[in-house]
Amino acid sequence: MIVLIGGEKGGSGKSCLAQNLAVYLQVECRLGLMVVDCDPQRTTSKWIQSRNENSALTKINCVQMYGKIRDDLLSLNNHYECIIIDCGGQDSVALRAALSVANFALLPLRPKRRDLQTLEHVDDLISNSQMFNPNLESAFVLTQCPSLPNQVKRILEARDVCQSWGYRVLKGLTYQRNIYDDSEEAGCSVLELEPKGKAANELRQIFNELLHQENQRAIEISYAHSAKQLEHEQYGTSRSYASVSER
Ligand SMILES: Nc1ncnc2c1ncn2[C@@H]1O[C@H](COP(=O)(O)OP(=O)(O)OP(=O)(O)O)[C@@H](O)[C@H]1O
Ligand SMILES: [Mg+2]
Repeated sequence: MIVLIGGEKGGSGKSCLAQNLAVYLQVECRLGLMVVDCDPQRTTSKWIQSRNENSALTKINCVQMYGKIRDDLLSLNNHYECIIIDCGGQDSVALRAALSVANFALLPLRPKRRDLQTLEHVDDLISNSQMFNPNLESAFVLTQCPSLPNQVKRILEARDVCQSWGYRVLKGLTYQRNIYDDSEEAGCSVLELEPKGKAANELRQIFNELLHQENQRAIEISYAHSAKQLEHEQYGTSRSYASVSER
């Protein structure tokens, strides 16, 4: 499967979600994956490079690609269970190419006027892509939301605006929390820094909802390589998933 994290607004949390999704699918769901960084700023490549130098963390595959990457993405998709694409914050040839082959497009937006103003262009991009890629499933996710009760209205209004364009808006969202920045600084994911924390749980909810999975085990089963692998697990002869979910 190919999952694109995209959008038109800088700073909405695309790289942050791409990085955490990579750790979630690789470390918690045990999928073989490749991260494709299409952003010339190389935010995600640099983060992966720094975490791959830390022997305590699971290594993640990453390549940088720009321009007409459609065929390259299709080829990678034959070799990995999941491709995660961080496309940066601008319309680009790579973004359009990725939209033409992606199964899922996760579109982060902050509940702010300037982020919502990008909806028109994003709608244009998605509608055009769906002409070539009718199976593309797109969903907005609200990020960096204020947690004060008197700010809930902002979140609800932002959700309404996205829905008024006919888009799915995930129920899961991220709140404004320091751990997002702290984990990036430490070269790890929120899920690794505080696996049982609120931020980790809000991320798991977003990812499972996007991928239509009720829980991590369902993702493992959907994308498990072979029936044999599952058979081994059922009889306890392979790796223990209990230990993964307990972390
Ligand atoms: N829920 C959150 N709470 C607090 N900070 C957050 C949250 N999500 C992301 N951030 C922070 O916001 C900043 C921007 O996030 P990120 O780099 O992921 O945005 P981006 O959409 O990839 O930006 P660009 O368009 O420049 O590529 C980062 O410092 C990140 O740690
Ligand atoms: Mg980015």
